[in-house]
Amino acid sequence: MAGKLLQLFSNRQSQAVPPIWLMRQAGRYLEAYRQTREQAGSFLDLCYNPALAEEVTLQPIRRYGFDASIVFADILLLPHALGQKLWFETGEGPRLDPIVSADSLRADKMHDHLSPVYETLARLRVSLPKETALIGFAGAPWTVASYMIAGRGTTDQAPAKDLLARDQAAFETIIDVLTTATVDYLEQQVLHGAQILQIFESWAQSLHGDDFVSYCIRPVARIVDELRTRGVDVPIIAFPRATTFNPNEYARITKIDALSVDQYVDLKNLADELDGDIIIQGNLDPNLLVSGGQEMLTQIDFICDVLKHRPHIFNLGHGIVPQTPPSHVAELVTHIRRRGVK
Ligand code: CP3
Repeated sequence: MAGKLLQLFSNRQSQAVPPIWLMRQAGRYLEAYRQTREQAGSFLDLCYNPALAEEVTLQPIRRYGFDASIVFADILLLPHALGQKLWFETGEGPRLDPIVSADSLRADKMHDHLSPVYETLARLRVSLPKETALIGFAGAPWTVASYMIAGRGTTDQAPAKDLLARDQAAFETIIDVLTTATVDYLEQQVLHGAQILQIFESWAQSLHGDDFVSYCIRPVARIVDELRTRGVDVPIIAFPRATTFNPNEYARITKIDALSVDQYVDLKNLADELDGDIIIQGNLDPNLLVSGGQEMLTQIDFICDVLKHRPHIFNLGHGIVPQTPPSHVAELVTHIRRRGVK
């Protein structure tokens, strides 16, 4: 039994109950996660500890029976593996030693550094229920570069955009180095057991026009293309969050299999306009999962109804936030699965 999610990718037909998983399904909203992170010492120690990373990946599967699990790691492990200093400030987020060129980046120890992630994947392939698909992931080059150049998360990615304006060649080399490393990283994830890949372009909305094509679309297209050339044939999902770029164009040029969309997308329009064989993933507002109640159930019904004639993966428009009551997640899963038997 391939499980619902892999089945959807192989036949691309709508299902009475869509497969369900949620971005950041392992995380601080779960008491079990907070305990395991404490045991690990820090967030990064947890990412690099295969037994504990496996455990936190499995926690939401045991609790909610999602149709997919996503390996516990972070998009910033890749710059770390390329030699950039990385740490997490408690309660604030990631910090890196900012870079203005690719000169200090080295790929020679990358796979050694990332071997714990590969081991976590290999362990999960053994411990996950057979019907639960295993997703590997990476950040898209622009999104990862925006953290590497700023040295932290920013709301407008201004430092990365400034570098592009000031020294386009240096900026493009960073994107290129990341693109190549991402192909290698994702290939290894599949060789170690990932059955689906997701590429997170969390800051897609900050580039427009030609810049969006050059630095968001082209690198993702190259990643997909090189993976296919290497014989990596697993389904690929991309999440170009909050972009206004034409979704058909994005999907056509990148050749992705599924498009993950945020909660601001006009879902009816998208359902009408997106080519029928591109799977839509999304798009409940994570804040509705916090508030719960009838408003959440109504929006879940709306999403499932609008997408009922298309292949659809139920997910959020962005990751689960820490203040989410775990009982609301259970309610979401039960509600979606019950709809299918009405
Ligand atoms: O369950 C899962 O989804 C798998 C694990 C996962 C994490 N991060 C764990 C994590 C995944 C897929 C990511 C992706 C990621 N990481 C993205 C892309 C998706 C998005 O949210 O836009 C980005 C931009 C990052 C970088 C990152 N990691 C930031 C900005 C932060 C700080 C913000 C925050 O939520 O704290 C992190 C930390 C992080 N990554 C946590 C988790 C569970 C929280 C860390 C903690 O336990 O303290």
